[in-house]
Amino acid sequence: MDFSLTEEHLLIRDAARDFARTELAPGVIERDEKQVFPQELVKKMGELGFMGIMVDPKYGGSGMDAISYVLIMEELSKVDASASVIVSVNNSLVCYGIEAYGTEVQKQKYLTKLATGEYVGAFCLSEPEAGSDATSQRTTAIDMGDHYLLNGTKNWITNGGRSDVYLVIAQTDREKGHRGINAFIVEKGMPGFDIGPKEDKLGIRGSDTHTLQFNDVKIPKENRIGEDGFGFKFAMKTLSGGRIGIASQALGIASGAYELAKEYAKVRKAFGTEISNHQAIAFKLADMYTEIEAARYLVMKAAWDKDQGNNYDRSSAVAKLYASKVAMEQTVEAVQIHGGNGFVKEYHVERLMRDAKITQIYEGTSEVQKIVISRSVLKD
Ligand code: CAA
Repeated sequence: MDFSLTEEHLLIRDAARDFARTELAPGVIERDEKQVFPQELVKKMGELGFMGIMVDPKYGGSGMDAISYVLIMEELSKVDASASVIVSVNNSLVCYGIEAYGTEVQKQKYLTKLATGEYVGAFCLSEPEAGSDATSQRTTAIDMGDHYLLNGTKNWITNGGRSDVYLVIAQTDREKGHRGINAFIVEKGMPGFDIGPKEDKLGIRGSDTHTLQFNDVKIPKENRIGEDGFGFKFAMKTLSGGRIGIASQALGIASGAYELAKEYAKVRKAFGTEISNHQAIAFKLADMYTEIEAARYLVMKAAWDKDQGNNYDRSSAVAKLYASKVAMEQTVEAVQIHGGNGFVKEYHVERLMRDAKITQIYEGTSEVQKIVISRSVLKD
């Protein structure tokens, strides 16, 4: 067993760290407050290869492994979780979905632009009545011979107002249950496709979350992904990789908050000494470090499974369940260590605490991860 990172991994991590500190950090508070999507920064992340991290270079990607993806996601998330969710959805749901299951024509037409950041992608599964219960899709795509006719509503769609390409999951044959579900590539601007209101969110406020409306949208047959009826499995397989992305986002949020708390504890004085000299604070830091290290190994294990070609459905759910819990709990501790300053925006930890909550909700709630894990372990 080898826990060390390669020279290349360290270089990639340092590049992401440098970008986060020099480019993401300035303006992060304002983007959060005013809900500003970081358009220019997404372009820059595309230039650095962060929008298609694991995509084959022949489709414009960086050709890196999943460990590199985790390292980049952690560094971005330490500073700006709104920017990192844009990266995560584009990489592990949209690019991966098309690269793993799309046709060559779909890859040439869409993946080459998504992987370079010229296009941004969204993944549209959730509906008003189908969140955790993903088989209960109400959006329909009726086979009309040479095209499908798409009708329905999708909710809480990350990158919803800013994407060029939307992977939309819809029911094509209700009688067949989950085997009557398909995934389609929908382009922005297709007649009948409307972008609804933007959500005013607790956290990740710089990311763009919308309701989407489809009214008789004509989807060419060649835009279906995979065999007829593959849509539900497509969503589940794609989400397993997505959960590695969100687990690394949670890891980054937690470690960002920990680092801020540790530095604060070393300079803030109370009762005649730096607060890090009080065991009440020092022990909190010890617990935070331990929990975050434990989360890191679970996240790395899931990424390693993916890189090895192992099944990662279970390990990605375990990583997301644990890392998101750590993110929530440890960001609260970081605010506590900051005392009154923790409640003030300029110290960043209150934003990280708000951002942490979504990691327990999107790409499957913690309860959904427990369904996936329990079903898997009971087969052992
Ligand atoms: N790979 C391949 N096939 C899979 C699979 C996987 N990982 N998981 C399930 N399947 C298959 C099953 O084998 C089964 O097929 P068969 O009948 O042929 O055996 C079929 O899919 C149905 O599976 P289940 O019976 O397990 O389905 P279920 O209805 O019980 O649901 C669930 C299981 C885990 C709860 C699932 O519905 C789920 O993951 N829900 C959460 C959805 C989710 O994560 N939504 C997030 C939206 S995306 C998002 O948040 C993006 C963003 O914007 C940030």
